[in-house]
Amino acid sequence: MTHCSVRAATAADRGLLARATLENLNWNGPRFTMREVEENPRLRHYYDGWPGGDDLGLVAEDAEGVVVGVVWLRFFTAEDPGYGFVADTVPELSIWVLAERRGAGIGGLLLCRVVDAARSRGVAAISLSVEDGNPAARLYARHGFRPAPDGAQGCLLEL
Ligand SMILES: CC(C)(COP(=O)(O)OP(=O)(O)OC[C@H]1O[C@@H](n2cnc3c(N)ncnc32)[C@H](O)[C@@H]1OP(=O)(O)O)[C@@H](O)C(=O)NCCC(=O)NCCS
Repeated sequence: MTHCSVRAATAADRGLLARATLENLNWNGPRFTMREVEENPRLRHYYDGWPGGDDLGLVAEDAEGVVVGVVWLRFFTAEDPGYGFVADTVPELSIWVLAERRGAGIGGLLLCRVVDAARSRGVAAISLSVEDGNPAARLYARHGFRPAPDGAQGCLLEL
């Protein structure tokens, strides 16, 4: 794997999180425009106003300082749930890697690091939503995510 450094994501990374949200929604081809994401509260809330409360995230940069990936957690509520919502104590994970850098271990690195960070803050579980057919599901399964119990949507990793 090429060398990457990892730093904390901040509110100043809003544009990065917006791009990542759009590209994640379009993982299997163009379905949404940035404008549609910005205008849809159920999509925009993945990045708008992030970080709130206990949200946390990490940005991977290559040796030249180019951003190559990002992972972030957001706590949603039953009144305003994400697609992988399980409980308001369980943050939902989003992850994205620059297209030309995928498959080189960056996503796995970010996943490990954010799980460690969440665990050290006392977070009990992390959820996520992944659509059928997305190869990312294999990555999540390798890192211990399992289908959420009790008919809830999404996948769950107990920490
Ligand atoms: C999912 C993603 C973050 C993984 O990052 P990565 O750096 O490619 O991951 P790694 O190299 O650490 O691990 C490779 C694994 O990632 C997944 N992966 C690899 N290329 C991928 C791609 N183009 N799209 C989706 N997942 C991919 C596979 O599970 C792969 O494991 P496999 O080789 O057993 O199939 C990244 O591929 C990506 O941004 N994909 C497009 C957007 C997306 O689907 N995001 C997740 C929405 S739920």
